[in-house]
Amino acid sequence: MAILPIVEVPDARLRETAAPVPEVNDDIRAIVADMFETMYDAHGIGLAAVQVGIMQRIVVIDLQERELEEGEPREAARDPHAYINPEITWLSEETASYNEGCLSIPEQYAEVTRPTRCRVTWLDTEGARQEAEFDGLMSTCMQHEIDHLNGVLFIDHISRLKRGMLLKKLDKLRRG
Ligand code: NI
Repeated sequence: MAILPIVEVPDARLRETAAPVPEVNDDIRAIVADMFETMYDAHGIGLAAVQVGIMQRIVVIDLQERELEEGEPREAARDPHAYINPEITWLSEETASYNEGCLSIPEQYAEVTRPTRCRVTWLDTEGARQEAEFDGLMSTCMQHEIDHLNGVLFIDHISRLKRGMLLKKLDKLRRG
């Protein structure tokens, strides 16, 4: 396993469409393992393969929402999920807003409005077809990560004015 470098804006790879995974094999499982290690190291809750420069349709998510018992290490709350070739098959008309961030746009956050619920199909790490409906933060995170596979970033969902301000703040942060 390895921690991979995270691709950040304005890297052009973040704007490309990722290719479907033709077969779930050991190579793909190794990528998934590296993606989890990279995501945990960066304290993220979701990561798309394109964010580590791998242009394939792979997403990992772990909301790590379980409350820790006293003395339990942070790792004990881990609940890793991998989604290969995920596809949204349904979105609710009802929408909700979350304050979103992205490991490819460091330390910048904005309120993003998306459908509250989504239905998704995907392949698991054994190559079996899965389907589920998500709501709340999980729905938001899933839509955010699948956006990455299509070259879309959360800043594309906010106004041009807000996007400009956010990118300016990022620029300032990078220049120290
Ligand atoms: Ni992101």
